[in-house]
Amino acid sequence: MALKAGRGAAAPPFLVMDVIAAANARAASLPADAPGILRMEVGQPGTGAPRGAAEAAIRALQAGAPMGYTEAFGLASLRARIAGHYGAKYGVAVAPARIAVTVGASGAFPLAFLAAFDAGDRVAMAAPFYPPYANILTALGMRPVLLPCDAATRFQPTLAMLEKLDPLPDGLVVASPCNPAGTMLAPAELSAIARWCHANGVRLVSDEIYHGLSWGTVAESTAAAFSDSAVVVNSFSKYWSMTGWRIGWMVLPEDLVRPVECLAQNMFISAPHVAQVAAEAAFDCTEELEANRSAYARSRAALLEGLPKAGFDRIAAADGAFYLWCDIGHLTNDSVAFAARMLEGAGIAATPGVDFDRDRGARFLRFSYCGPEAAMAQAPGRLKGWLGRS
Ligand SMILES: Cc1ncc(COP(=O)(O)O)c(C=O)c1O
Repeated sequence: MALKAGRGAAAPPFLVMDVIAAANARAASLPADAPGILRMEVGQPGTGAPRGAAEAAIRALQAGAPMGYTEAFGLASLRARIAGHYGAKYGVAVAPARIAVTVGASGAFPLAFLAAFDAGDRVAMAAPFYPPYANILTALGMRPVLLPCDAATRFQPTLAMLEKLDPLPDGLVVASPCNPAGTMLAPAELSAIARWCHANGVRLVSDEIYHGLSWGTVAESTAAAFSDSAVVVNSFSKYWSMTGWRIGWMVLPEDLVRPVECLAQNMFISAPHVAQVAAEAAFDCTEELEANRSAYARSRAALLEGLPKAGFDRIAAADGAFYLWCDIGHLTNDSVAFAARMLEGAGIAATPGVDFDRDRGARFLRFSYCGPEAAMAQAPGRLKGWLGRS
């Protein structure tokens, strides 16, 4: 008898994982003396956790700390440190009681969505978007409302787009810098959107995971500065280079603190204890993290200089994160096939846009430049040679 599978079983795959598998297979098939594959598909720093963070974890383990569950919202010292970060970085006072430590930013989304929305609720977001926003909402019975965005608005939503929605959505997810486009909302734009959401009963979820990685074209600002009803999501995965440690956080509005705490107790109990110890220490590793950041900045500059000469000349404003979102409509109408050919012919793995934009992704490619600087610098030359031949 065929048994019923739930709505969650219909969650679409995250296609970048297939690209990673193809790049691994291609790398394994190459002779040892062949030039390796340039990995520009992955969205995680090539660097590990900062030394001071790893050492704090080692010290805690060697001291025999039992590393049991923490409180659902995390270690008090880590929550205080995160709250202090808002004062130090943005000049915004945030009470530690509003900080929830989560299992990465990924762990924050289901908590935020379940606390803020009901099944059937409509939640808007720009397209292209980070696929799990829509996939998690859909798995929870909520409905993503996609706002097609392009270079004219830096691939970001605008107040005008929101005002046109009828009926108004129940929620809005924004990300600045965003994945995949790497573009940002200016502080005045984020402020206007946050205030409009508050005034219109639209719950704003602001994904700020790429803060710390922006390149001076647009200033970073936090939704926590503009709205008491917004949920802010952040993580130690990107600037702090700690993907596998799985620590993120939320700044919660007062009305969602207790609901999210109850959900977190039931769904996760707590984020990993030893990783919380490491994350707290990461706040003191600025020198190492700023060196990583400088390497990304150099890779970005080299690619912005070299890619147009190689034929990739339609690149979204590279404001932040470590992505370049390229319109390759003049080269192909099938980015999946194009990425496969590029892997084979140029030895470069990049992510086809279809993951991020269901309607227009066939003409976009995302290059990630968080890999080793020397490898990133080789990309334009290889692409030029390959496109010249093909
Ligand atoms: C925009 C965005 N949000 C959230 C995440 C998830 O990050 P985490 O490792 O903190 O779960 C990612 C990961 O790539 C991302 O790009």
